[in-house]
Amino acid sequence: MSESTIESILQEKRVFPPSAEFSQNAQIKSLEDYQKLYDKASSDPEKFWAELAESELHWFQKWDDVLDWQPPFAKWFVNGKINISYNCLDRHLTTWRKNKAALIWEGEPGDSRTLTYAQLHREVCQFANALKELGVQKGDRVGVYMPMIPEAAVAMLACARIGAVHSVVFGGFSAEALRDRLIDGQAKLVVTADGGWRKDAIVPLKVQVDKALADTTVTTVEKVLVVKRTGQETEMEPGRDHWWHDMQSSVSPDCPAEPMESEDMLFVLYTSGSTGKPKGVVHTTGGYNLYTHMTTKWIFDLNDTDVYWCTADVGWITGHSYIVYGPLSNGATTVMYEGAPRSSNPGCFWDVIEKYGVTVFYTAPTAIRAFIKMGEQLPNARNLSSLRLLGTVGEPINPEAWMWYHRVIGGERCPIVDTWWQTETGGIMITPLPGAIATKPGSATRPFPGIIADIVDLEGNTVPENEGGYLAVRYPWPGMMRTVYGDPDRFRRTYWEHIPPKDGKYTYFAGDGARKDEDGYFWVMGRVDDVLNVAGHRLGTMEVESALVSHPAVAEAAVVGKPDELKGEEVVAFVTLEGTYQASEELSKELKKHVVNEIGAIARPGEIRFTDSLPKTRSGKIMRRLLRSLAAGEEVTGDTSTLEDRSVLDKLREGA
Ligand code: WT7
Repeated sequence: MSESTIESILQEKRVFPPSAEFSQNAQIKSLEDYQKLYDKASSDPEKFWAELAESELHWFQKWDDVLDWQPPFAKWFVNGKINISYNCLDRHLTTWRKNKAALIWEGEPGDSRTLTYAQLHREVCQFANALKELGVQKGDRVGVYMPMIPEAAVAMLACARIGAVHSVVFGGFSAEALRDRLIDGQAKLVVTADGGWRKDAIVPLKVQVDKALADTTVTTVEKVLVVKRTGQETEMEPGRDHWWHDMQSSVSPDCPAEPMESEDMLFVLYTSGSTGKPKGVVHTTGGYNLYTHMTTKWIFDLNDTDVYWCTADVGWITGHSYIVYGPLSNGATTVMYEGAPRSSNPGCFWDVIEKYGVTVFYTAPTAIRAFIKMGEQLPNARNLSSLRLLGTVGEPINPEAWMWYHRVIGGERCPIVDTWWQTETGGIMITPLPGAIATKPGSATRPFPGIIADIVDLEGNTVPENEGGYLAVRYPWPGMMRTVYGDPDRFRRTYWEHIPPKDGKYTYFAGDGARKDEDGYFWVMGRVDDVLNVAGHRLGTMEVESALVSHPAVAEAAVVGKPDELKGEEVVAFVTLEGTYQASEELSKELKKHVVNEIGAIARPGEIRFTDSLPKTRSGKIMRRLLRSLAAGEEVTGDTSTLEDRSVLDKLREGA
């Protein structure tokens, strides 16, 4: 975040209570009700969660223990038997919701589909049987590399139904990134599509899968199940590749949900950290089901007349928890949109809201900032009066963007839930409950009931009110990640040892800086580690550096974030070249392209700065802080005494 944004957040004093009408009809109706829930949950979290698990979800068999906490490893609802696909589908079929719209889908070129709960259930069962026919068994990992089409959700639910573990890889990631994730997760099968629509062009996903699988280091993938979406000529490898529509016509629509252990793995989802390659965040069944169910219910305040739309991609945790599992577990109508605002249709989001009468809308600050730039005339030309609640996620929202969202999209009547959470937390952690908690622009407000959040120093002490510190969680919660796939030690190191455990009490380190104000409101400032947030997407600086260094021209690379008006942050790479290579505009272009090939378009550096050397400490550590200031065009301040060669700094300045 830029200095000016931080400044404006620090001075933000406006408060927006929900209207009396909103509160009266809300799930949680007042601050007192929130406080009661919060206190009850804090005094006995296990009892709190157990009561909700009992009343809100279907279990094939009840658990023995609510929580088995062997820090930092948690087990929730031990020995309970449950299936999240059953909770998202089957249990609604015995009610009037059977014929309610479960999924409303709008394709980018304007095609659309609505699946009722009965239809979605049928399709999931067929898909599950197809997976079984292709050899997928309980516990196997399945890669899902899909565009935003209903079959992406169908594939996830089908895996969950038979106890296979899905590993969704965002369709915007490159073949290389896909390959690495398939290898790490030892996937047995990949679900993909011939292509998907992205800004008026076809993204040929199957071609990327072929490219990934051509690498001989991928040894576990036996089959590829291909959904026909865009219809272009697609090569199919006999024996390995199968069309979904061919199988769908012959597989049975009967597939009972497999009773899973509460702690059986539900999915792996890769996310970037400050070191090493992306980690496979592991989520399990029972706790995740309960946590996404409750957060969806109370935060998005869903009831049966709502049409709920989250604009995320299913390739990210937001899509998992708040397009698929949370809304469907609640029997809600969830909208899925394949497209993105683009020059040929900059008002497409507002069209979707008007067309389907969306009532609850959840998007990212980066999107809101892009809309501000496009102008009010676009939303103003549509009827957005169906909206009653708005949400944001992904990065801190600057108060100006918040106010625009409130005024132009929300017509000054819709509460805004600014939801702080992470891939690791499984669900939303700090957020207003919209009927209960007055909002302040730029603050995610208060912790969800059952979440013991705190602002701490690196010794684990709570810092005083309004002082900056590290955002931390003091007690386990049902939706928390269980481990890093294949690397429990990395899980411990990354999340539980930055703050030293005290008397057997462990504190979860989120990696964000934050403060808490005099009303107990949390203000999240952004990452405190080498993780960038580019347009709401997490990127490890080291990942981009490794991609750059894998190019023959690059000797060394250091990547930092530069504040960007639209994207929040932009990637700036400082690069030194191997002997004979010369800096040039062409090489700069080539390196940018190289990073896109290695990771995906989201990692494309906005700027490459060639330099003779990088500023380092005497022990050889790159001083990123200096590079950040340089990239931002700011005065380099603070201590530079540890800099090994002070002339490097002057040269870098001149170079800019
Ligand atoms: C990081 C997690 C989980 C949703 C999508 C991102 C930042 C997320 C907020 C918010 C301030 C936020 C944090 C966090 N973040 N939401 N409302 N206010 N910052 O998931 O890719 O796992 O990234 O996103 O820095 O650590 P993710």
